[in-house]
Amino acid sequence: MINPPGINLLTHLLPHLACEAQLPIVEADRETMSQAVWRLHETNRDGRSVSNRGAGWQAEIVDRTPFVPVMSAIEQVARGLLGSYGLTFQELVFTTMWANINFHRDFNVTHRHGGHLSGVYFLEVADGCGDLVLGSTAAFYISNPLVKKARDAEGNNFLGHSIKPRRGQMVLFSSETNHHVDCNLSERPRLSIAWNMRVDDGADGLAART
Ligand SMILES: [Fe+2]
Repeated sequence: MINPPGINLLTHLLPHLACEAQLPIVEADRETMSQAVWRLHETNRDGRSVSNRGAGWQAEIVDRTPFVPVMSAIEQVARGLLGSYGLTFQELVFTTMWANINFHRDFNVTHRHGGHLSGVYFLEVADGCGDLVLGSTAAFYISNPLVKKARDAEGNNFLGHSIKPRRGQMVLFSSETNHHVDCNLSERPRLSIAWNMRVDDGADGLAART
């Protein structure tokens, strides 16, 4: 396994594929995306209800135009992640993208996504706005207390990895990874976009279509 430059593999979460990276997005593009999310919120206040609780809002992104710069950067990291695990493929397809706004006291319950790779990109964050917690689906099968109790310097273990969001940070993980978002204890809205990706190898071997 190779750790590509600028991509930090979250190896504590094995057997899932997971990494995080700060994306090279200029401030103007990030601001354009934030405004697009707020516009979406204005025109679709009800949004949809999936894993969001409290008054957490999310809605499908139909017009992806403002998000093209970040989609390109995401694809670069996805290629690095897959390559580091020796996976070859022909095409990455964003099957769905949606915007999230977690207001004060909003949170997301534990869930997982469909597809092959899923991720989140943080547009606006604040101290205490809610960590993203990735959980290993292997946890169900593990009873060894050594594995359960072992922690690294950041408090992570083999069963879970907690990420304090940074503005401009992307977290990418294989779609079956359990995850939840802690309660937003800050007064500021937490803005992010999320997506599911399909990975095609051209032969339906690595990745059957979903
Ligand atoms: Fe999610």
